[in-house]
Amino acid sequence: MHSTHDEVDLRLQVASRTDGAEGVVVLELRDPGGAELPAWGPGAHVDLNLGNGMTRQYSLCGDPADRSTWRVAVLREPDGRGGSAYVHEAVREGDTVDVRGPRNHFPLVPAPRYVFVAGGIGITPILPMVAAADAAGAAWELHYGGRSRRSMAFLESLEEATGTTVTLHPQDEVGLIDLPAVLGTPQEGTLVYCCGPEPLLQAVEQQCAAWPEGSLHVERFSPKEFGEPVFHDSFEVELATSGLTLTVPPDRSILEVVEDAGVPVLSSCTEGTCGTCETPVLEGEVDHRDSLLTPAEQAANDTMFICVSRAACPRLVLEL
Ligand code: FES
Repeated sequence: MHSTHDEVDLRLQVASRTDGAEGVVVLELRDPGGAELPAWGPGAHVDLNLGNGMTRQYSLCGDPADRSTWRVAVLREPDGRGGSAYVHEAVREGDTVDVRGPRNHFPLVPAPRYVFVAGGIGITPILPMVAAADAAGAAWELHYGGRSRRSMAFLESLEEATGTTVTLHPQDEVGLIDLPAVLGTPQEGTLVYCCGPEPLLQAVEQQCAAWPEGSLHVERFSPKEFGEPVFHDSFEVELATSGLTLTVPPDRSILEVVEDAGVPVLSSCTEGTCGTCETPVLEGEVDHRDSLLTPAEQAANDTMFICVSRAACPRLVLEL
């Protein structure tokens, strides 16, 4: 994983705002002057700067071939940090919003066969993946769960395929997705993509433990839980490009210390889920505490997310 940082800052207009399902608002964003929007691929997300100091990430869930419109779906999360409530209450058709992106840490890797598992609003990155897999002639199946049909967005667009390749699991009708049946037998050459709430992600991770390495791709909207840091003391971070060496105390993130030193670095979520602060590692062992890297990517030890990850040794050298 290496983000390319070729994302752009745009001021877009809310061309339409519709109800996607119970508690889900769908926004279509366009350039006010009609300019073409940057290209993106399935799995990409953008930051919406909500104008009240909050920045939130949303997966693009429209058609990548439509360069005039970006579509995002926002679930109202009563226990959230206020971003979704703001979108639901304050963002109206015709408003302008500042958008940064697109960024993709969940790309669709070419494969002959896919199993897609989506829970609730986790359907958003999966929708364009399903379309791309289908267009590429790959075999695929989608298992889509939600509390009830009313709460499940984009059901109409999936209706045509329902029965053979799409299985809907409204929990109030049929219970949870039967993961042992779906993923119980590892299949060589099949890739599994999953997005949804943490319990679903963990259950899918468990089911896929016996699958070939690299089969499972997940995207998290909320950060994973981590225990104590590997290295409890202060550690040094040498910034190879700016020629600075900084001390990171136990109660501060590398990102905070780097920002305080006046070194420009992009960040957004500050919780290890969005990927904006990805930084190449030149020397030293990293204590990875992000929700993005796969175990293999973590073991490669050549990149880190400095908003949450720390040193597992007294000194790191970063390309900053
Ligand atoms: S700022 Fe989002 S991963 Fe670090």
